Amino acid sequence: MAVDVASHYRSAADLAARATQPGMDGLKGSQILAIAGEVRELRAQGKAIHNLTIGDFDPRYFPIPDALRDRIKDELDAGQTNYPPAVGVPELRAAVVALYERELGLTFPIDSVLAGSGARPPIYATFATIVAEGDTVVYPVPSWNVSYYVYLNRGRGVPIVTQPETGFMPTAAQLAPHLSTARLLVINSPQNPSGTVITEEVLGELCDAILAENARRRELGERPLMLLYDAVYWQLTFAGARHLTPIGLRPAMAPYTVMVDAISKWWAATGLRVGWCVAPPWVRAKMQALVGHMGAWPARAEQLATAALLQDPSLLGDYLDHFKRQVQQRLELLQRGIEDMARDGLPIRCLSVAGAIYLSVQLDLVGRTAPDGTPLPDDEAVRKWILHTAGVAYVPFTCFDYPGGSGWIRLSVGSVSMADVEATLASLRAALTPFTG
Ligand SMILES: Cc1ncc(COP(=O)(O)O)c(C=O)c1O
Repeated sequence: MAVDVASHYRSAADLAARATQPGMDGLKGSQILAIAGEVRELRAQGKAIHNLTIGDFDPRYFPIPDALRDRIKDELDAGQTNYPPAVGVPELRAAVVALYERELGLTFPIDSVLAGSGARPPIYATFATIVAEGDTVVYPVPSWNVSYYVYLNRGRGVPIVTQPETGFMPTAAQLAPHLSTARLLVINSPQNPSGTVITEEVLGELCDAILAENARRRELGERPLMLLYDAVYWQLTFAGARHLTPIGLRPAMAPYTVMVDAISKWWAATGLRVGWCVAPPWVRAKMQALVGHMGAWPARAEQLATAALLQDPSLLGDYLDHFKRQVQQRLELLQRGIEDMARDGLPIRCLSVAGAIYLSVQLDLVGRTAPDGTPLPDDEAVRKWILHTAGVAYVPFTCFDYPGGSGWIRLSVGSVSMADVEATLASLRAALTPFTG
C-alpha cells in the first residue's frame, strides 16, 4: 500500500512554526497573485470580470513571435536539451552585445553578460552580490517587488515616496539625504506599476549624484554605491517617451550599473523564462556563481532561439511594431475614456500613456460612501467595491508599497482586448456617475 505522506505532515503540524528559519517569517507572497485568485473565484461563480490586474499577456491577443516558437521547437528537435553554461550560451551573450550596440549605441564586453531564467534571477543575484546585512537600499515607491528582495537579503530598505508630478520617479533631491549611506539604488524604467518613463533630466541628475558619491568613496577605498537599472520594459515606450540608460547618458556609470533585461515583457514571453543582465565583469562573476548554484539559467533551446531572433532586426522590428501598436491602442483608449470621465466631473483621472503595459489612474473615492451605503474608508475597500459593483479588477498602488489613501491604482492591458477596454470604461462610468461632483 502507498504511504499516506499527508497524514505524516498532519501529525507533525506543530513543526510548522519551528522548521523554517526565523528570517523567513516575514516573507510574504505576492499580493497581486492574491487579487488574481479573487478574480478567478468570481469568474468561477459566473460573474463577468474585466481583468486589468496582472502584468502578463493573454496569448490570444499577445502571442510570442512565431519565429521564436518555431526556433525553440527546432532546437529541441536538434537535441539542444542538456545543461547550458551557467553564464549563458555564447550565442545568446553575443546576441545581447549586438542588440545593445545596434539599439542603444553601447558596446559591452561579452564577459559583462549573464543569462538568467527571466529577469528575476539577475535581480535577486544583484541584491545578493551587492547588499550585505544591514546595507541601505534606496528605491522609489510605488515599485515592483523591491521590498521582497531587500527583505530576503536582510538589507535596510529606504522607500522614497514619489509623486505623480515626477511620473512616480525619484529625484536627486530625494536621494540626497541617503547618498552617503546607500549601497544600492534601484530604478525601473519604463516603470511597473506606473507606466511612466524616467526623463533625461531626472536620470542625469541621479547618475551625477552617484558619480560624485563614488568619487568620494573611491578616494577613501570604500565600497561603491551601485545602481540596479531594471529595464525589462525598455522596448515598450509610446507617445514620444524615449528609453534612456544610465550608461548611455553618463558612460562613467558603467562600473556602477547592473542593467537587467528579459524577453518576458517585450516579446510577451513571460512563461519562457529568458532574461539577462549586463554588469561589471567582477560583479557578473559573483552573480554567475549564485545563478549557477541555483540552476536559475534559461533552458538551452530557448537561449539559442532567443539569440537567433535577437540577431534578426527586421523580423524583430515587424513583431515589435505590431505588438507595440496593440498595447498602445489599448492604453490610449483607456486614457481617452478616463479623461472624458474626468471632464464630466467623475472622480477619476490618469497620467498620460508613456511606457510598459500600464496606466496610472487615480480614483478619488477614499473616505466617501458608495450609493449602496458601502463605506469606502481605504484603498482596499474601494478596490473591493469597484470589483463587485463594476466588475473591474485592478491593483492598487498600496500593493506596490505606496502609502494608503492616495487612490492611485495600476491598470494593466496585457490580458484585455479592445472590446474589453470599451466595456471596462462603460462599467467604470456607470459605477462612478453617482459620485459626479
Ligand atoms: C519591473 C519588473 N522587473 C522584473 C520583472 C520580472 O520579470 P521576469 O518575469 O522576466 O522575471 C517584472 C515582472 O513583472 C517587472 O514588472
